Amino acid sequence: MAAPVVDADYRKEIEKARRDLRALISSKQCAPIMLRLAWHNAGTYDAKTKTGGPNGSIRSGVELKHNANAGLEIAVGFCEEVKAKHPKITYADLYQLAGIVAVEVTGGPSIDFVPGRKDSLESPEEGRLPDARQGAKHLRDVFYRMGLSDKDIVALSGGHTLGKAHKERSGFESLPWTTDPLKFDNSYFVELLKSDSKGLLKLPTDKVLVEDPEFRRYVELYAEDEDAFFTDYAASHKKLSELGFIPPSSGIKRTMLTKSALTVVVAVGLLLWLCYSNFYEKSQKPQLDN
Ligand code: HEM
Repeated sequence: MAAPVVDADYRKEIEKARRDLRALISSKQCAPIMLRLAWHNAGTYDAKTKTGGPNGSIRSGVELKHNANAGLEIAVGFCEEVKAKHPKITYADLYQLAGIVAVEVTGGPSIDFVPGRKDSLESPEEGRLPDARQGAKHLRDVFYRMGLSDKDIVALSGGHTLGKAHKERSGFESLPWTTDPLKFDNSYFVELLKSDSKGLLKLPTDKVLVEDPEFRRYVELYAEDEDAFFTDYAASHKKLSELGFIPPSSGIKRTMLTKSALTVVVAVGLLLWLCYSNFYEKSQKPQLDN
């Protein structure tokens, strides 16, 4: 599918959709599942083959039925309400915008959003998202495949400050990670460092963040310093939302660069031609010296 034309009208629609998403997420209290939708759409990216990623393909029947996506048809349905009002916006942009708004309306950091993602219905094979029952190596395999780092792994895992597990979807106890699962803050990391957090969830992949020394230093930092968490989270989330996406602005920059290079070539050519014609004229003139 073609990339959307990101002109003034498209940007206006994005801002309107942003307002509608804010209202929808607040009234339905669905920030957690909207964030999870954005993450599961983007988190299939493979940097080597440049496949998967935030391209809206999660709405396809095949991908939505992948085990890891159980329950996400609810979030896709909510987004459909916004899409109906703003049909111009691609699903790829809409899902990522929904994730960013979900973080913001629950008190998290503002995340820069650049529109222009192309839609696709080509779903990656099942199994690209992380398996919560595995360890540090698996987490690294999955996130490094996307082109992300250890810091991104820990910062983004902080998304579990929102929401809870649902036994019927993932098989994990229906428990939240924090005492206020509708507030985006650093309490996920605070709880991770406690040996006993009764009534709260710790997945095996959450626990490895404390066990692995490289991950742990970020957990300690974020538990201590919420501002540091918010800064890193916003940067990592932006990266996640733009995996495999070349923002149209870079396209404009590139066109401008090409134009400037062309101007230089033409100017140099003109100069050379002037020099040559000057020299030729001189060489053709009769010698008046004697
Ligand atoms: C690091 C690897 C990750 C694993 C293994 C993992 C796994 C899981 C699992 C098993 C659930 C429970 C699903 C359910 O039963 O409804 C869940 C929920 C959730 N995850 Fe993750 N996740 C990971 C990373 C992330 C990231 C990077 C984000 C966002 C940036 C995120 C956001 C969420 C949210 C918001 C929920 C709650 C959804 C709800 O309440 O409906 N997760 N995750």
